[in-house]
Amino acid sequence: MNTSLSSSSQKPINEFDVHRIRDEFPILSLNIKGKPLVFLDNAASSQMPQIVMDRWLCYQRSEHANIHRAVHYLSETATAHYEAARTTVQRFINARQSCEIIFTSGTTESINLVAQSWGRQFLKPDDEIILTTLEHHSNIVPWQMVAQACGAKIRVVPMFDNGELDLEAYAKLFNSHTKIACFTHVSNALGTLNPVAQMVATAREHGVVSLVDGAQAVPHLSVDVQALDCDFYVFSGHKLCGPTGIGVLYAKASLLESMPPYKGGGDMILSVSFEKTTYAPIPAKFEAGTPPIAAAITMAAAIDYLSGIGLDRIQAYETRLLQYATEQMKALPGVSIIGTAAQKAAVLSFKLDGVHPHDVGSLLNDDGVAIRTGHHCAQPVMQRLKIAATSRASFAFYNTFAEVDVLIKSIERVKLIFG
Ligand code: ALA
Repeated sequence: MNTSLSSSSQKPINEFDVHRIRDEFPILSLNIKGKPLVFLDNAASSQMPQIVMDRWLCYQRSEHANIHRAVHYLSETATAHYEAARTTVQRFINARQSCEIIFTSGTTESINLVAQSWGRQFLKPDDEIILTTLEHHSNIVPWQMVAQACGAKIRVVPMFDNGELDLEAYAKLFNSHTKIACFTHVSNALGTLNPVAQMVATAREHGVVSLVDGAQAVPHLSVDVQALDCDFYVFSGHKLCGPTGIGVLYAKASLLESMPPYKGGGDMILSVSFEKTTYAPIPAKFEAGTPPIAAAITMAAAIDYLSGIGLDRIQAYETRLLQYATEQMKALPGVSIIGTAAQKAAVLSFKLDGVHPHDVGSLLNDDGVAIRTGHHCAQPVMQRLKIAATSRASFAFYNTFAEVDVLIKSIERVKLIFG
């Protein structure tokens, strides 16, 4: 354990026992270059607790077979756990029905599925797709690809200097050509927490479909897709303390039923002949081939783990942690915080005067501190702010106030080195 990190500035946190939680994550006790690991790259991928790893192992040891295909014991067991994982996801985001949950390989595939299936079905020449300046490339490029194929146009919601979207400009982008509005719930580059319920409502007033990229939201706050009333909501397992290679597309059943399959293959059909193929009902229609069975079941264990702690408690703790980190960083001369929206979640992007972010990242690594540097797959954000890159610390509920102190000390060391 990183006992050296549990002392100086630990704050009381309403029975949220971060040190007990940390004990459940084997990787957090690693030393890097002789220093305790301070893992602040959670927006890229979060770490997995032992209980979730154990679920994977248990599945592989005693439950694994292909699903939906055989009547033997293991196939029926694996099928039951896989479908139970779907129900776990349904409850996690409060979807109306479990058939509204499609397992994909991640957020990127979920958005590509919507762009290629819904987009090719419903977009016509001169139709318009609304995106925002804050989007990750995974919520831009798939739309550019389908816009090019269908002759549709992309309109972009502008952003203020602090990283908040211009919602008046957003409302004005809608017209009779607008067909879909796609926006992130939380910005991966700046941490801005967008008012997505309001944005969905604006789209709905214009009869426009909405897609919310929830990859950076679901690990940090409680999400209710019925309350949001969005048409599509997407996220990944590996940012949720689950495995890589698994993600979720939530969509309203009526929309999924109106969409053609995205991939063809086994398990997504009712009947196949060389003359005619008919498709299975949702969700199977969108899950061709052998799905990521172990990953879906393990992601469900991760969801159970997070739900056991409580997303509301996680959000309350992380909000305090982010406030503390923000105050500490503001006090450092020569350091600017990039992204100062009033509502933020878990991300602190910053720049040091005269130091390239990659140098910051490498020097912090020497102190055991893992951050991400670069454009964060959000080049339009960087272009808008006229910068090439930032350094980004991104937090999870297992990070401590003492780790923030280590981050700040390490940044001070970088400043000393660069004079
Ligand atoms: N989208 C991930 C990030 O922001 C990879 O780092």
